[in-house]
Amino acid sequence: MPTVSVKTIQAAENTNKDDQSFELNESELLFDGLDRQGLTLPHGCLAGSCGSCRIEVLEGSENISPASAIEKNTIEALITEYNQKYGEDHAKGKTIRLSCRSKVNGDISISPLKS
Ligand code: FES
Repeated sequence: MPTVSVKTIQAAENTNKDDQSFELNESELLFDGLDRQGLTLPHGCLAGSCGSCRIEVLEGSENISPASAIEKNTIEALITEYNQKYGEDHAKGKTIRLSCRSKVNGDISISPLKS
């Protein structure tokens, strides 16, 4: 079963604190696995359209199922929003996914993203 490492980055100190790891159950969506661990992310639609459950994939992005058209559109909108709020470099080079749509078939490392 895939292992998910969750890193909570403390920007002020640039260190990782409160890191957690757990195993996803077979066919379990990433959002559901996080929820089972008490790491419930903000959420609204649970269908890939609101973007509330966004995460950054730090390692293992190839182990997440390809994004659907709906998820891709939502991620593009999130990147546009980040660019407007924080500048062009904020989302540059980051792999953003939606945990409610992410099926995982290998080990990954993630960090929840704030809006
Ligand atoms: S909860 Fe809406 S996109 Fe995941």
